[in-house]
Amino acid sequence: SVRVLTGITTSGTPHLGNYVGAIRPAVAASRAQGVESFYFLADLHSLIKAQDPARTQRSTLEIAAAWLACGLDPASVWFYRQSDVPEITELTWYLTCVAGKGILNRAHAYKAAVDRNRAEGEDEDAGVTAGLFMYPVLMAADILLFNAHRVPVGRDQVQHIEMARDFGQRFNHVYGREWFTLPEAAIEEHVATLPGLDGRKMSKSYGNTIPMFVPPAELKKLVFSIVTDSRAPGEPKQTEGSALFQLYQAFATAEESAAFAQAFADGIGWGDAKQRLFDLVEREIAPLRDRYLDLVARPGDIEDTLRDGARRLRERYATPLLSQLREAVGLRDLS
Ligand code: TYM
Repeated sequence: SVRVLTGITTSGTPHLGNYVGAIRPAVAASRAQGVESFYFLADLHSLIKAQDPARTQRSTLEIAAAWLACGLDPASVWFYRQSDVPEITELTWYLTCVAGKGILNRAHAYKAAVDRNRAEGEDEDAGVTAGLFMYPVLMAADILLFNAHRVPVGRDQVQHIEMARDFGQRFNHVYGREWFTLPEAAIEEHVATLPGLDGRKMSKSYGNTIPMFVPPAELKKLVFSIVTDSRAPGEPKQTEGSALFQLYQAFATAEESAAFAQAFADGIGWGDAKQRLFDLVEREIAPLRDRYLDLVARPGDIEDTLRDGARRLRERYATPLLSQLREAVGLRDLS
C-alpha cells in the first residue's frame, strides 16, 4: 500500500492554512483504499521557535483535537506525537552524519534568518540556533523512518522533502542498501498557499492567521479585516491576486467559485463579498468547531490516544528498523 505521512508543528493554534494545506487533504486521503497514513504532531520541531513549555503543551492538545475534530480516525491511521517516538531523534543523528552542510545552508528558513542579519549589519549567525539549521534533518527523519511515499504539504515545505530525498539517498548509498524509500511531496495545486489577512501566506510568523476554531463572531471580524483594494461597490473587482477570492476558492465548489468570480466582475461590494466568504467558511467549520470544543475539554482522552498510537507504531516499525540501522552503521543493537 501507499504510505502517506505529514506533520504539523505544535507552535500555536491551528489556523485555516493548516486546515486547507494539511489537515483537510490528509484526512480525505486517509479514507482512500490501499493507503497507510501517518499523521503526527511535530512537537520537537516546535522547540526551535517556541521555548515556552506551557504553550507547547497547549498547542499539542489543540492541534491533536483539530485533527480528530476534522474526522481523523486514530483506529485506522497512525496518529502520534513526534517526541513519543525517540527513534526519530536517534535517526536524526545518523542522517546528520550523511547530510551535506552545503545543502542545509540553502534551507529557506535558515537562509532567511542569515540574510536578515546581514541586511541589518549584524553577525550573520546572531540569534540563529543550530536547531534552526538542523530543522530539515529532523524532518527527514520523520519521513524516512516510516518509508513514506507521499508527503502532503503546502508549497513552503517542498524544499524540505527534497532534502529528505537527498539525505535518504546518501544514506542508502553509504550503507549499501535501499534502507529508505525516497519520498515525494504532494501539493493540492489550487490551494497550494492560502493567503492570510494581509494577503501574504497565512503563517503564525506573520501574525496574519485566521485560527480555525474562534467563535463565529470573531471569525466574522477576522474575515472582515482581510485586505482589499479601494474599489467601490459597482466597480468590477479583480479576482487575480485577491486574498478574499483565494480564501473563497479554498472552501467553495467549482460552481460557487465561478459564481463568485462573476460577482467580482459585476462589481460586488467588499462588504457583501466578505459576508459571502464568512458564510462559506462558517458552513464548513461550524460542525468541526462543535466537535473540537468537546475534544479539548477532555485532554486525558487525547493523551491516551496519542500515547497508544506511538506505542503501537514503535513496536510495529520504529524499534525494529532502528535496531537494523544500528547494526548497519556499525553500532551495537540495543535489543
Ligand atoms: P507547519 O506546522 O508550518 O504547517 C503544517 C502544514 O500546513 C501547511 N500550511 C499551509 N498550507 C497552505 N497555506 C498556508 N498558508 C499554510 N500554512 C501552513 C504546511 O505546508 C504544512 O504542510 N515542518 C512542517 C511540519 C513537519 C512535517 C514533517 C511535515 C515536521 N515534520 C514531516 C511533513 C512531513 C511545518 O512546520 O509545518
